[in-house]
Amino acid sequence: MRLYFVRHGIAEDLAASDFDRALTKRGRRRVATSAKVMKRLEIAPVRIFSSPRLRSRQTAEIIAEALDMPVTISEAVNFGFDQGDLRRLTRNLDADNEVMFVGHNPDMSLLVSELTGVDVSMKKGGLARIDVLGRSVGEGELVWLIAPKVFDALGMEAKAAGKKDESLIATPAQKLPATSQPLHNLIRRRWSPVGFDRERDIDRATLLSILEAARWAASSSNLQPWRFIVAPRANEPEFQKILSVLREGNQSWAQHAAVLMIAVTHKFRAPDALNRHASHDLGLAISQLVLQALDHNVYVHQMGGFFPDKAREVYEIPDEFEPFTAIALGYQSLQLDHLSQGHREREAAPRQRQALSEMIFNGSWGQPADFLNESNM
Ligand SMILES: Cc1cc2nc3c(=O)[nH]c(=O)nc-3n(C[C@H](O)[C@H](O)[C@H](O)COP(=O)(O)O)c2cc1C
Repeated sequence: MRLYFVRHGIAEDLAASDFDRALTKRGRRRVATSAKVMKRLEIAPVRIFSSPRLRSRQTAEIIAEALDMPVTISEAVNFGFDQGDLRRLTRNLDADNEVMFVGHNPDMSLLVSELTGVDVSMKKGGLARIDVLGRSVGEGELVWLIAPKVFDALGMEAKAAGKKDESLIATPAQKLPATSQPLHNLIRRRWSPVGFDRERDIDRATLLSILEAARWAASSSNLQPWRFIVAPRANEPEFQKILSVLREGNQSWAQHAAVLMIAVTHKFRAPDALNRHASHDLGLAISQLVLQALDHNVYVHQMGGFFPDKAREVYEIPDEFEPFTAIALGYQSLQLDHLSQGHREREAAPRQRQALSEMIFNGSWGQPADFLNESNM
């Protein structure tokens, strides 16, 4: 398990009570900078626990917003936070989970010191990462400790370099769906942008991770009836080849993607037997690919708008395979000047879905399932 300990940011000295001491303006600004750096470090806790005291809650909320995770307020992280509390809070988590705790000194420094055997003094807004083997949080290794000053420097460096670091850009608010139930963050954040960053390539390790996710999808009889033709933009001739088989409407925005693909099914389970589930299983593989990509902040836009026969011809795809969809991948761009007015509007439009009652049935066809109605629960 990977544990992150954060001491709250700089807070006002006086308030109605110690409980109500808020972050100062400087404190909030510094935490916001640290939070952006945490995002760039790809810190991804499954839970962010915070002490209920205002200064800690505010710190946790700023971080949570940047990392797109909710905060769990827990009395256990209040004054007196100790190893027993830590054990209780992490008991039901998986060994490979990341968890964050936002709280107070002296407990934060004491706990980090006890867990690692290293004498540590945590500054306001500081962050320690401790890795523990397996589920036991009794013994940990201090992997790093970042003082707020270092966060400041890292934040400024990114700014000074004028880097358009898309990993700092979360899914725009209007694209986050109004879901009827809580969903996994990746599912909530996923959408199909047409605005891709023309200058940012997907590195090889990230691309391989995305493709590996597709590889591990379920499939009927484990036939794995998916194939992908993949062209990173850096390979200009290959990229142009795939671009040439897209319909014009898709070419206009997909030319800015970092990687283009054609997804292909293998149609047969035996030489004389069709695999009825081939396209279903290709969809599963792509679904995994899409979520893994988003975990790297890479967005995916699938396209039915391409010419399968042309793809077959260009790549000499044998008859038993069928080019099914084209796929564009890339980092999101908020700079949309190069797109048509229609595409810019599409990028800003909220996402819509049919209601669960229109797709979840029981009793008879078309009848909304009884459990959807709260009075039947
Ligand atoms: C199989 C498939 C084919 C699609 N074809 C196109 C396409 O040719 N052009 C396009 O702009 N979007 C295409 N899309 C994207 C859909 O329009 C988009 O997924 C849908 O509007 C829902 O929006 P969301 O993905 O942002 O939730 C396709 C999506 C899928 C899954």
